[in-house]
Amino acid sequence: MVSNQAICRAHTNIALIKYWGKRDVDKFLPMNSSLSLTLDGLYTDTRVIFDDHLTRDHFILNGAEQQDSEVDKISRFLDLFRERAGVKTYARVDSTNHVPTAAGLASSASAFAALAGAARQALNIDMSDQELSTYARRGSGSATRSIFGGFVEWQMGTNSANSMAVKVDDGLWDIGMVIIALNKQQKKISSRKGMRHTVESSPFYESWKQVATDDLEKIKLAIEKRDINKIGQIAEANAMRMHATTLAADPPFTYFEPDSLRAMEAVRAIRKQGIPAYYTMDAGPNVKVLCRLSDAEAIRQQLLTIFDDSQLLVTGTGPGIQILSTWEENNDD
Ligand code: PMV
Repeated sequence: MVSNQAICRAHTNIALIKYWGKRDVDKFLPMNSSLSLTLDGLYTDTRVIFDDHLTRDHFILNGAEQQDSEVDKISRFLDLFRERAGVKTYARVDSTNHVPTAAGLASSASAFAALAGAARQALNIDMSDQELSTYARRGSGSATRSIFGGFVEWQMGTNSANSMAVKVDDGLWDIGMVIIALNKQQKKISSRKGMRHTVESSPFYESWKQVATDDLEKIKLAIEKRDINKIGQIAEANAMRMHATTLAADPPFTYFEPDSLRAMEAVRAIRKQGIPAYYTMDAGPNVKVLCRLSDAEAIRQQLLTIFDDSQLLVTGTGPGIQILSTWEENNDD
Protein backbone atom coordinates (compact mmCIF):
# COMPACT_ATOMS: atom_id res chain seq x y z
CA MET A 1 0.00 0.00 0.00
CA VAL A 2 1.40 3.39 -0.92
CA SER A 3 -1.47 5.70 -0.15
CA ASN A 4 -5.07 4.89 0.57
CA GLN A 5 -7.36 7.69 1.52
CA ALA A 6 -10.99 8.46 2.30
CA ILE A 7 -13.08 11.37 3.57
CA CYS A 8 -16.06 10.82 5.81
CA ARG A 9 -18.69 13.14 7.30
CA ALA A 10 -20.48 12.28 10.54
CA HIS A 11 -23.12 14.28 12.37
CA THR A 12 -23.31 14.69 16.08
CA ASN A 13 -26.14 13.29 18.16
CA ILE A 14 -27.89 14.31 21.35
CA ALA A 15 -29.03 11.57 23.71
CA LEU A 16 -32.67 11.56 24.78
CA ILE A 17 -31.99 8.56 27.00
CA LYS A 18 -28.48 9.09 28.31
CA TYR A 19 -25.50 6.80 28.34
CA TRP A 20 -24.04 7.37 31.78
CA GLY A 21 -21.53 4.86 33.12
CA LYS A 22 -19.35 2.06 31.82
CA ARG A 23 -19.32 -1.54 32.96
CA ASP A 24 -16.04 -2.10 31.10
CA VAL A 25 -13.83 0.96 30.86
CA ASP A 26 -11.33 -0.47 28.35
CA LYS A 27 -13.93 -1.77 25.92
CA PHE A 28 -16.38 1.08 26.42
CA LEU A 29 -19.20 -1.25 27.38
CA PRO A 30 -22.04 0.80 28.89
CA MET A 31 -24.07 0.13 32.02
CA ASN A 32 -27.29 0.94 30.16
CA SER A 33 -28.66 1.19 26.64
CA SER A 34 -29.24 4.72 25.34
CA LEU A 35 -31.07 6.50 22.51
CA SER A 36 -30.35 9.68 20.59
CA LEU A 37 -31.35 11.96 17.75
CA THR A 38 -28.70 12.65 15.10
CA LEU A 39 -28.59 16.36 14.17
CA ASP A 40 -27.97 17.94 10.79
CA GLY A 41 -26.47 21.23 11.99
CA LEU A 42 -23.31 19.93 13.62
CA TYR A 43 -20.85 17.60 11.91
CA THR A 44 -17.23 16.62 11.50
CA ASP A 45 -15.39 15.98 8.23
CA THR A 46 -12.38 13.71 8.51
CA ARG A 47 -9.85 12.69 5.90
CA VAL A 48 -7.59 9.74 6.56
CA ILE A 49 -4.58 8.96 4.41
CA PHE A 50 -2.67 5.75 5.11
CA ASP A 51 0.78 6.31 3.66
CA ASP A 52 3.78 3.96 3.63
CA HIS A 53 6.13 6.93 3.81
CA LEU A 54 4.92 8.05 7.24
CA THR A 55 6.94 7.07 10.31
CA ARG A 56 4.15 7.87 12.79
CA ASP A 57 0.51 8.97 12.84
CA HIS A 58 -0.34 12.65 12.43
CA PHE A 59 -3.51 14.38 13.60
CA ILE A 60 -4.52 17.81 12.36
CA LEU A 61 -7.66 19.32 13.92
CA ASN A 62 -9.20 22.45 12.41
CA GLY A 63 -5.89 23.09 10.66
CA ALA A 64 -3.68 22.73 13.76
CA GLU A 65 -1.22 19.89 14.28
CA GLN A 66 -2.18 18.20 17.55
CA GLN A 67 0.13 17.32 20.42
CA ASP A 68 1.27 13.80 21.31
CA SER A 69 -1.46 13.02 23.86
CA GLU A 70 -4.16 13.69 21.24
CA VAL A 71 -2.27 11.79 18.53
CA ASP A 72 -1.94 8.82 20.91
CA LYS A 73 -5.74 8.58 21.24
CA ILE A 74 -6.13 8.58 17.47
CA SER A 75 -3.31 6.02 17.07
CA ARG A 76 -4.88 3.60 19.55
CA PHE A 77 -8.19 3.96 17.71
CA LEU A 78 -6.62 3.43 14.28
CA ASP A 79 -4.79 0.36 15.64
CA LEU A 80 -8.18 -1.39 15.86
CA PHE A 81 -8.67 -0.85 12.12
CA ARG A 82 -5.04 -1.69 11.23
CA GLU A 83 -5.33 -4.92 13.16
CA ARG A 84 -8.56 -5.80 11.36
CA ALA A 85 -7.06 -5.00 7.94
CA GLY A 86 -3.73 -6.67 8.73
CA VAL A 87 -1.62 -3.59 8.00
CA LYS A 88 0.86 -1.52 9.99
CA THR A 89 0.82 1.64 7.86
CA TYR A 90 0.67 5.00 9.65
CA ALA A 91 -1.89 7.63 8.77
CA ARG A 92 -2.40 11.34 8.48
CA VAL A 93 -5.77 12.37 9.90
CA ASP A 94 -7.24 15.77 9.02
CA SER A 95 -10.39 16.71 10.84
CA THR A 96 -12.64 19.76 10.68
CA ASN A 97 -15.47 20.38 13.10
CA HIS A 98 -18.34 22.27 11.52
CA VAL A 99 -19.91 23.88 14.51
CA PRO A 100 -21.61 27.17 13.57
CA THR A 101 -20.29 30.05 15.68
CA ALA A 102 -21.42 28.68 19.03
CA ALA A 103 -18.36 26.80 20.16
CA GLY A 104 -18.32 24.41 23.09
CA LEU A 105 -20.41 22.00 21.05
CA ALA A 106 -17.56 20.21 19.34
CA SER A 107 -18.39 16.62 19.84
CA SER A 108 -16.42 13.44 20.25
CA ALA A 109 -19.47 11.61 18.84
CA SER A 110 -19.15 13.05 15.32
CA ALA A 111 -15.34 13.01 15.54
CA PHE A 112 -14.92 9.29 16.20
CA ALA A 113 -17.82 8.28 13.93
CA ALA A 114 -16.21 10.22 11.04
CA LEU A 115 -12.78 8.74 11.77
CA ALA A 116 -14.22 5.23 11.92
CA GLY A 117 -16.05 5.70 8.60
CA ALA A 118 -12.96 7.11 6.89
CA ALA A 119 -10.64 4.40 8.26
CA ARG A 120 -12.96 1.60 7.13
CA GLN A 121 -13.16 3.09 3.63
CA ALA A 122 -9.45 3.92 3.29
CA LEU A 123 -8.41 0.40 4.33
CA ASN A 124 -11.15 -1.24 2.21
CA ILE A 125 -12.45 -3.20 5.18
CA ASP A 126 -15.56 -5.23 4.52
CA MET A 127 -17.65 -4.31 7.56
CA SER A 128 -21.34 -3.43 8.04
CA ASP A 129 -22.39 -0.09 9.54
CA GLN A 130 -23.62 -1.95 12.58
CA GLU A 131 -20.22 -3.54 13.16
CA LEU A 132 -18.58 -0.19 12.43
CA SER A 133 -20.58 1.28 15.32
CA THR A 134 -18.85 -1.18 17.69
CA TYR A 135 -15.53 0.26 16.48
CA ALA A 136 -16.69 3.88 16.81
CA ARG A 137 -17.67 3.01 20.39
CA ARG A 138 -14.02 2.41 21.27
CA GLY A 139 -13.23 6.08 20.58
CA SER A 140 -16.16 7.54 22.48
CA GLY A 141 -19.36 5.86 23.62
CA SER A 142 -21.66 8.43 22.06
CA ALA A 143 -19.89 7.95 18.68
CA THR A 144 -21.55 4.53 18.48
CA ARG A 145 -24.87 6.25 17.72
CA SER A 146 -23.51 8.79 15.19
CA ILE A 147 -22.95 6.07 12.58
CA PHE A 148 -26.69 6.25 11.83
CA GLY A 149 -29.13 9.09 11.20
CA GLY A 150 -32.43 9.81 12.94
CA PHE A 151 -33.36 8.13 16.22
CA VAL A 152 -30.69 5.60 17.13
CA GLU A 153 -30.48 3.14 19.98
CA TRP A 154 -27.14 2.00 21.35
CA GLN A 155 -27.90 -1.46 22.67
CA MET A 156 -25.69 -2.16 25.67
CA GLY A 157 -25.24 -5.75 24.48
CA THR A 158 -23.58 -8.60 26.31
CA ASN A 159 -20.10 -8.27 24.81
CA SER A 160 -17.90 -6.04 22.67
CA ALA A 161 -19.25 -7.46 19.39
CA ASN A 162 -22.91 -6.78 20.10
CA SER A 163 -22.76 -3.50 22.02
CA MET A 164 -23.82 -1.59 18.91
CA ALA A 165 -26.08 1.00 17.33
CA VAL A 166 -29.45 0.16 15.82
CA LYS A 167 -31.59 2.58 13.86
CA VAL A 168 -35.00 3.07 15.48
CA ASP A 169 -36.68 5.64 13.20
CA ASP A 170 -35.38 7.89 10.42
CA GLY A 171 -36.73 10.95 12.26
CA LEU A 172 -37.68 12.59 8.98
CA TRP A 173 -40.78 14.21 10.38
CA ASP A 174 -41.53 17.39 12.25
CA ILE A 175 -38.90 17.20 14.97
CA GLY A 176 -35.80 19.23 15.73
CA MET A 177 -33.78 21.00 18.37
CA VAL A 178 -32.83 24.48 19.43
CA ILE A 179 -29.39 24.41 20.98
CA ILE A 180 -28.56 26.99 23.63
CA ALA A 181 -24.78 27.24 23.81
CA LEU A 182 -23.97 28.73 27.18
CA ASN A 183 -20.32 28.24 27.75
CA LYS A 184 -17.50 28.07 25.29
CA GLN A 185 -14.97 26.86 27.81
CA GLN A 186 -13.66 23.31 27.87
CA LYS A 187 -15.81 21.18 30.19
CA LYS A 188 -14.65 21.21 33.80
CA ILE A 189 -15.28 17.51 34.34
CA SER A 190 -15.13 15.35 31.22
CA SER A 191 -17.96 12.89 30.61
CA ARG A 192 -15.43 10.09 31.06
CA LYS A 193 -14.37 11.28 34.53
CA GLY A 194 -17.88 12.36 35.54
CA MET A 195 -19.52 9.05 34.75
CA ARG A 196 -16.75 7.06 36.39
CA HIS A 197 -16.93 9.07 39.60
CA THR A 198 -20.72 8.71 39.62
CA VAL A 199 -20.61 4.93 39.11
CA GLU A 200 -18.08 4.61 41.91
CA SER A 201 -19.66 6.89 44.48
CA SER A 202 -23.31 7.79 43.83
CA PRO A 203 -25.86 5.87 45.91
CA PHE A 204 -28.41 6.81 43.22
CA TYR A 205 -26.53 4.92 40.53
CA GLU A 206 -28.35 1.59 40.96
CA SER A 207 -31.70 3.34 40.47
CA TRP A 208 -30.35 5.12 37.41
CA LYS A 209 -29.72 1.83 35.63
CA GLN A 210 -33.30 0.74 36.27
CA VAL A 211 -35.02 4.00 35.30
CA ALA A 212 -32.89 4.37 32.18
CA THR A 213 -33.99 0.91 31.06
CA ASP A 214 -37.66 1.76 31.68
CA ASP A 215 -37.36 5.19 30.03
CA LEU A 216 -35.85 3.62 26.92
CA GLU A 217 -38.79 1.27 26.42
CA LYS A 218 -41.26 4.11 26.94
CA ILE A 219 -39.55 6.51 24.54
CA LYS A 220 -39.42 3.90 21.78
CA LEU A 221 -43.22 3.57 21.95
CA ALA A 222 -43.59 7.36 21.91
CA ILE A 223 -41.28 7.62 18.86
CA GLU A 224 -43.32 4.99 17.07
CA LYS A 225 -46.43 7.11 17.69
CA ARG A 226 -44.55 10.32 16.81
CA ASP A 227 -45.90 11.75 20.05
CA ILE A 228 -43.69 14.79 20.55
CA ASN A 229 -45.04 15.56 24.02
CA LYS A 230 -44.41 12.07 25.30
CA ILE A 231 -40.97 11.93 23.71
CA GLY A 232 -40.12 15.27 25.30
CA GLN A 233 -41.45 14.40 28.74
CA ILE A 234 -39.50 11.15 28.87
CA ALA A 235 -36.29 12.75 27.53
CA GLU A 236 -36.46 15.68 29.95
CA ALA A 237 -37.09 13.43 32.95
CA ASN A 238 -34.30 11.07 31.90
CA ALA A 239 -31.80 13.92 31.63
CA MET A 240 -32.69 15.23 35.07
CA ARG A 241 -32.38 11.71 36.49
CA MET A 242 -28.88 11.44 35.04
CA HIS A 243 -27.91 14.81 36.53
CA ALA A 244 -29.40 13.78 39.89
CA THR A 245 -26.83 10.97 40.09
CA THR A 246 -24.00 13.52 39.96
CA LEU A 247 -25.50 15.60 42.77
CA ALA A 248 -25.51 12.48 44.93
CA ALA A 249 -21.92 11.52 44.09
CA ASP A 250 -19.23 11.76 46.76
CA PRO A 251 -17.93 14.43 46.51
CA PRO A 252 -20.94 15.84 44.62
CA PHE A 253 -20.63 17.74 41.36
CA THR A 254 -22.90 19.23 38.74
CA TYR A 255 -22.83 20.38 35.14
CA PHE A 256 -25.55 22.95 35.83
CA GLU A 257 -24.59 26.61 35.67
CA PRO A 258 -26.81 29.56 36.53
CA ASP A 259 -27.55 30.10 32.83
CA SER A 260 -28.54 26.43 32.42
CA LEU A 261 -31.26 26.96 35.04
CA ARG A 262 -32.36 30.17 33.33
CA ALA A 263 -32.60 28.32 30.02
CA MET A 264 -34.66 25.51 31.54
CA GLU A 265 -36.99 28.06 33.15
CA ALA A 266 -37.43 29.78 29.77
CA VAL A 267 -38.29 26.45 28.12
CA ARG A 268 -40.90 25.71 30.79
CA ALA A 269 -42.43 29.17 30.16
CA ILE A 270 -42.61 28.46 26.41
CA ARG A 271 -44.28 25.15 27.16
CA LYS A 272 -46.93 26.90 29.27
CA GLN A 273 -48.00 28.68 26.07
CA GLY A 274 -48.90 25.29 24.63
CA ILE A 275 -45.78 24.88 22.47
CA PRO A 276 -44.14 21.45 22.92
CA ALA A 277 -40.59 22.24 24.09
CA TYR A 278 -38.50 20.03 26.38
CA TYR A 279 -34.93 20.37 27.58
CA THR A 280 -32.01 18.04 27.93
CA MET A 281 -28.41 18.53 29.09
CA ASP A 282 -25.20 16.52 28.81
CA ALA A 283 -21.81 16.68 30.49
CA GLY A 284 -21.68 20.46 30.24
CA PRO A 285 -23.86 23.52 30.84
CA ASN A 286 -25.45 23.79 27.36
CA VAL A 287 -29.19 23.20 27.11
CA LYS A 288 -30.79 21.49 24.11
CA VAL A 289 -34.48 22.01 23.44
CA LEU A 290 -36.40 19.23 21.74
CA CYS A 291 -39.34 20.58 19.75
CA ARG A 292 -41.24 20.43 16.47
CA LEU A 293 -38.94 21.69 13.74
CA SER A 294 -41.84 23.89 12.58
CA ASP A 295 -41.89 25.56 16.04
CA ALA A 296 -38.11 25.89 16.34
CA GLU A 297 -37.81 29.37 14.85
CA ALA A 298 -40.59 30.75 17.09
CA ILE A 299 -38.85 29.19 20.11
CA ARG A 300 -35.54 30.70 19.04
CA GLN A 301 -37.21 34.13 18.79
CA GLN A 302 -38.49 33.83 22.36
CA LEU A 303 -35.10 32.71 23.65
CA LEU A 304 -33.54 35.75 21.95
CA THR A 305 -35.04 37.90 24.72
CA ILE A 306 -32.62 36.18 27.12
CA PHE A 307 -29.75 34.83 25.04
CA ASP A 308 -27.60 36.18 22.26
CA ASP A 309 -28.20 35.31 18.63
CA SER A 310 -24.77 33.61 18.46
CA GLN A 311 -25.77 31.27 21.31
CA LEU A 312 -28.83 29.84 19.56
CA LEU A 313 -28.81 27.22 16.84
CA VAL A 314 -31.79 25.57 15.18
CA THR A 315 -31.27 22.11 13.73
CA GLY A 316 -33.30 19.27 12.26
CA THR A 317 -32.65 15.55 12.02
CA GLY A 318 -29.32 14.52 10.54
CA PRO A 319 -28.22 11.58 8.40
CA GLY A 320 -25.79 8.76 9.11
CA ILE A 321 -22.14 8.80 8.04
CA GLN A 322 -21.38 9.73 4.44
CA ILE A 323 -18.31 9.13 2.33
CA LEU A 324 -17.33 12.35 0.52
CA SER A 325 -15.48 12.36 -2.76
CA THR A 326 -13.66 15.65 -2.26
CA TRP A 327 -12.16 17.52 0.66
CA GLU A 328 -14.13 20.79 0.70
CA GLU A 329 -12.36 24.09 0.44
CA ASN A 330 -13.71 25.28 3.77
CA ASN A 331 -12.05 22.31 5.41
CA ASP A 332 -8.83 23.90 6.60
CA ASP A 333 -5.96 22.20 4.90
O1 PMV B 1 -19.20 9.11 25.00
P1 PMV B 1 -19.07 10.44 25.60
O2 PMV B 1 -17.82 10.63 26.33
O3 PMV B 1 -19.36 11.52 24.57
O4 PMV B 1 -20.21 10.55 26.76
C1 PMV B 1 -21.53 10.93 26.51
C2 PMV B 1 -22.24 11.21 27.78
C3 PMV B 1 -23.52 12.02 27.63
O5 PMV B 1 -23.39 13.00 26.62
C4 PMV B 1 -23.77 12.76 28.95
C5 PMV B 1 -24.74 11.15 27.37
C6 PMV B 1 -24.87 10.56 25.99
O6 PMV B 1 -25.48 9.49 25.91
O7 PMV B 1 -24.43 11.15 24.99
